[in-house]
Order: sequence, then C-alpha cells, then structure tokens
Amino acid sequence: MKDFNFDNFDILRGQSVVSDIKRDTISASDFGTDFRWGTATAAFQIEGGVAEDGRGPSIWDTFTKQKGKIKNGDHAEIACDFYNRYESDLELVKELGFKEFRFSLSWSRIIPEGTGGVNQMGIDFYNRIIDKCLDLKIEPWITLYHWDLPQALEDRGGWKSREIISWFSEYVTLCAAEFGDRVKNWIVLNEPTAVAGLGYTTGMHAPGKKGVFNFLPVVHHLALCNAEGGRIIRDHVQNAYIGTALSCSHVKPYSDKPKDIRAAQRADAIMNRLFLEPSLGLGYPTDVFPFLNGIKKFMRPGDKDKLAFDFDFIGLQNYFRIIVKHSYFAPVLWLEEIPAKKRNVPLTAMGWEVAPDGMYDILKQFSEYAGVKEIIISENGAAFEDLPEDGKVKDLRRVEFFQDYLKSILKAKKEGVKVGGYLAWSLLDNFEWAEGYHPRFGLVYVNYETQERIVKDSGKWFASFLKN
Ligand code: NOJ
Repeated sequence: MKDFNFDNFDILRGQSVVSDIKRDTISASDFGTDFRWGTATAAFQIEGGVAEDGRGPSIWDTFTKQKGKIKNGDHAEIACDFYNRYESDLELVKELGFKEFRFSLSWSRIIPEGTGGVNQMGIDFYNRIIDKCLDLKIEPWITLYHWDLPQALEDRGGWKSREIISWFSEYVTLCAAEFGDRVKNWIVLNEPTAVAGLGYTTGMHAPGKKGVFNFLPVVHHLALCNAEGGRIIRDHVQNAYIGTALSCSHVKPYSDKPKDIRAAQRADAIMNRLFLEPSLGLGYPTDVFPFLNGIKKFMRPGDKDKLAFDFDFIGLQNYFRIIVKHSYFAPVLWLEEIPAKKRNVPLTAMGWEVAPDGMYDILKQFSEYAGVKEIIISENGAAFEDLPEDGKVKDLRRVEFFQDYLKSILKAKKEGVKVGGYLAWSLLDNFEWAEGYHPRFGLVYVNYETQERIVKDSGKWFASFLKN
C-alpha cells in the first residue's frame, strides 16, 4: 500500500484540492463537536477470503456462482482482500480523519452452518478488527446482518422460515458475548426492505427467490428479528447504543391526481414505513397498503408486542428520491416509479438521481415520529466513473455530492432534527452486489488487479473537512 502523506496535498495548505468547487463552504464544526463522523462497509462486499479459516458459504457465495446473476460474471472471492489487508485499510480510515468505522459480521465466518459449531478463527478475525480500531482510537460499529445469510440456513427455509428467530437469536447472543465488552455501537439489520424485496420477491439478490407471496412472511420474520436482536444486545451489552439501518427515500407523487398520490403513499409505505413503524409499536402500514394485511396469516399470539423495540437510533440510509406515477402495468405492484433516467435529472453511475433535497425531506419525515430518538445517517454516497490518472482520482462530482448532501443534513439539523452522525458509504470501492465491481462508491479507489489503494479527491476532501 502507498504511504499517504496528506501534508503533501494542496488541500491542507488552505486551498481546495478540487479547484473549481463553487459551492458555499460548510464546516464540520457546524455539526457540533459531538457529531460522529465515520465510514461504512459490509463484510461480503470487501472481505474476500471466502474459504479461509473455516468460513462457511453464505447465500451470496452460492448466488455469485450462478450464471447471469451478477453483471460481468463478477464474484467476491477476493473482493478488496480486506480479510488480509484490514490493518492498512483501517489506518486509511484514520488518515481520512474518521473516528467511526462501521463493518458487518459475516455470520457464516462465525457459525459456518448458521447454528451450532462456532468457528473461533472467525471470531478472532473480528476481534483483530475491533482491537485495531480501538488502537487507532476509532469507534467500531457492528452490523449484525448485512445480507449474507449462511447457505445452510437458506437450505432450511432462510428468512421464509419462522425458525430464523431462534437461529438469529443464537448468533446475536454469541456476538454480544464475544464483542460486547469493546463494541458499543450495534446495528441489528441492514436494509431489511432490500432483503425481502430483492432477495425473496424479485430475485435480483441472493438467495434469488421470486414471488410476491414470499414477501409477507419474510418481512414479518425480519421485523421480529430486528426487535429481538435489539433486545438481546440490550440484555447482554452494557451501555450499548443500538439501532437498525433502513433504506429510505423521500417519495413524491408525479402529479396531484388522487391516483398518483395513492401510488406515492404505497411506495412510501414500503420504502420508509415498513420496518420503522412496527419497531415503534405502530404495526405495519396497512392503512395505505392493505396487501400487508396478509401478514396476519404469519402472526402468532404476542407478535404485535414483540415487533416493538426501543431503538436508541434509527440508521437512515439515503441515496436518491423517488417519483411515483400510478400505473396498471407496474411490474412491481407498489413501486410505480418513474426511473430517474427518464426525468432529465443528474444521475450517478447507478442511474440514481442526485437529490440532496430528498435527504432533507426524508430527515424531516422521520423526525416526525415521537419514537425516533436519534437518527444516524448510516450510509450515504455515490458511484461515479472513476479513472485514475497519474496516481490520482479526481472525483469532483463525488466531492460535490457529499457537500450538497451534508448541507441538506445540516439544514435539517439546524431546524431541530436529531441527527447525531454520518457514515459515508463507502471506505473502499467494493462488490456492489448484483452490479458487480463496476459501480465504484469508495472514498478510496481499489485496483482489483493489484489491490493497490488510491485515496480519491473525495477522500482527501473529507480529510481536510474533518481536520479543519
Ligand atoms: C445499501 C447497502 O447497504 C450497501 O450494501 C450498498 O452497497 C449501498 N446501499 C449502495 O448501493
């Protein structure tokens, strides 16, 4: 790895490294001294080492082996080789000025079959990460579930099976016991809506199950595990700060026609309310989306109460906004979305709209719930085409993206929204699920041939922003 010396960059001599930024300047101190700045990652997207030291296969290992599932036939057997390079990568987190680092645990590295036998070498790996973070004075944040279910559990029904509540509880109890002495920040689930929608309904993500009727049991089991995971951490980890990470996008109707408004309400129910409201004790958003009444079939006595948990924070992950128009032919009943590329708006390499106002709107929307105590932006970032030139990656558009989104967050914060931290997605370019390696989200460029890292201008911008 290259030795980065930020003193060599113009940015620390008082000039912007990206000379033509015309935007108003913001400063980290505007967010307050207790605001938490960090960067986020996920195990399957960066670790590689899929067969090392006793790790069992996950549903994503199986899925990436199936033809046609991942663009370009990409797989994550090596990914960013974080399994072997975690030390120098964590040093980069420090060099970029972040004090918080979010990573996820690979369940199948810790319990290869999902339940039963524990793999000490997997536990040792996460202990090394945690200890390295603490040495560097970086606070570790654990995500318990970021999509990589052990394959052995999928073979027993996966998230469709109610047994997952006991499998998940066993895993969370072990993690709390092993890591809870040093890790205080816990995120139970990552984007459960994507698990249910992409993993078990459209089949675009692992395990690739299709069918609208999978959606309801999977949602219910995820929601129960979400709350149960929170309770287990609360019971086993002293002074834990517990949250869960939800994908959220502000939804606007295409027009003020009642049909469009109803379509937008349905999309909002799925995108923004589906997991938040049951966790707050408000039940599922059946008011605007009666299809969700079908969940009753999977409810057992006492479930209504078990869905609620008093989270310390809600992890809000926002990338874009959604415009919805009623359609009789929408392929997915509730998402009658007009794709951003048809709307003549600025786009990222994912085809997502760059919409900093949407971040402000969704923060305001979440702050209206009395039960939401604090919000952490647990992911936000953008993929653009990054090309290194002379050892530099001049990702001006990403710098602008961060500045504009941060300005929206600051505006909401100044208006009283309790937002306590920001974790940029992502530290490194990484395996972007079904999209493979093409979309690059990192603050640090990864050359996948050589595993060389190059801090992008956006990474340098953060270093300077956080230093000043
Ligand atoms: C959400 C997911 O949590 C993360 O894994 C993914 O890479 C980013 N968003 C970008 O799509």
